[in-house]
Amino acid sequence: MNILRNPRWALPESAVTSEAVFWNRRAILAAGGGLMAAGALAGLPGAASAAAPGEPLASPPATNPAHADAGRAVTPEPVASAYNNFYEFGSHKEIARAAQALRTDGWTVTLDGLVEAPLTIGADELIGQMPLEERIYRHRCVEAWSMVVPWTGFPLARLVELAKPLSSAKYLRFETFLDPEVARGQRQHWYPWPYVEGLTMAEATNELAFMVAGAYGKVLHKQFGAPIRLHLPWKYGFKSIKSVVRVSFVAERPISFWEELQSAEYGFWANVNPAVPHPRWSQAEERVLGTDERVPTVRFNGYGPEVAGLYAGMEAELGDRLWR
Ligand code: MTE
Repeated sequence: MNILRNPRWALPESAVTSEAVFWNRRAILAAGGGLMAAGALAGLPGAASAAAPGEPLASPPATNPAHADAGRAVTPEPVASAYNNFYEFGSHKEIARAAQALRTDGWTVTLDGLVEAPLTIGADELIGQMPLEERIYRHRCVEAWSMVVPWTGFPLARLVELAKPLSSAKYLRFETFLDPEVARGQRQHWYPWPYVEGLTMAEATNELAFMVAGAYGKVLHKQFGAPIRLHLPWKYGFKSIKSVVRVSFVAERPISFWEELQSAEYGFWANVNPAVPHPRWSQAEERVLGTDERVPTVRFNGYGPEVAGLYAGMEAELGDRLWR
């Protein structure tokens, strides 16, 4: 298994700040309590380390053994971090440099809609209070390329628990930031900004649904969707929304960015299925990023044992819609 290791990972646990302390320190600094917090933590080795996106985590959390082997080599970081879809910064793959304009300090995430009480929380505080782990996931883009990335994050189910949704909540509606000053792609007015995605409650609380705050043992790179994004390994990549600012619990199925733009090609469900072609190309195979390989695509991107039950009996009603 080709897992990239950052040299700082080799540091003994005792020599570095724990991940919760690391994220919470960022939260306190972001909240303006900088002087006191920095003073209080000054004695902790690693506390003074910068915490910018793309920089190494002082103490990367352990890899979840159930998600330690994606069955394929991890895509080298320089490859995955230089070939991105982030339309806010351009409708091509070389957006990494433009995405550095994204400002993540003071980032907040709002949990609202059909919940006991709406909550706006700093991204660092949110991440700092969650049980962090690493998961190595396959990612299959609807454009028929794929990669394997070690993500650091926490189960989306934990965020749902924090939000305390009412029983009337049937779906989650995720929203990305809106700032055309910074994200020049958002000046392209024919796109329905901000980027929106949605899930059912059952999908959101499935064990695989993962909120991501890091990649390759580093604080999440801006081009990957800093400071916090979603990853849903059984669905086409466009469902894995980046740079989330709001998660709303709603009764009606949300209309996503791509569905609004082109509903015949991109729907709500978008589960990976090699047997259902995109209207303009086959989904039978995928190009493996960083290699010359093309490999057969697998139903649910190979995660059927974990998620097929979510869709039991729905195929008859939804037909191809389940797979687009
Ligand atoms: N989220 C936002 N906000 N904007 C986007 O353009 N692109 C999606 C998804 N999330 C996108 C997004 C698509 S099409 C894919 S394939 C993945 O992000 C790409 O993730 P990556 O750049 O980390 O590979």
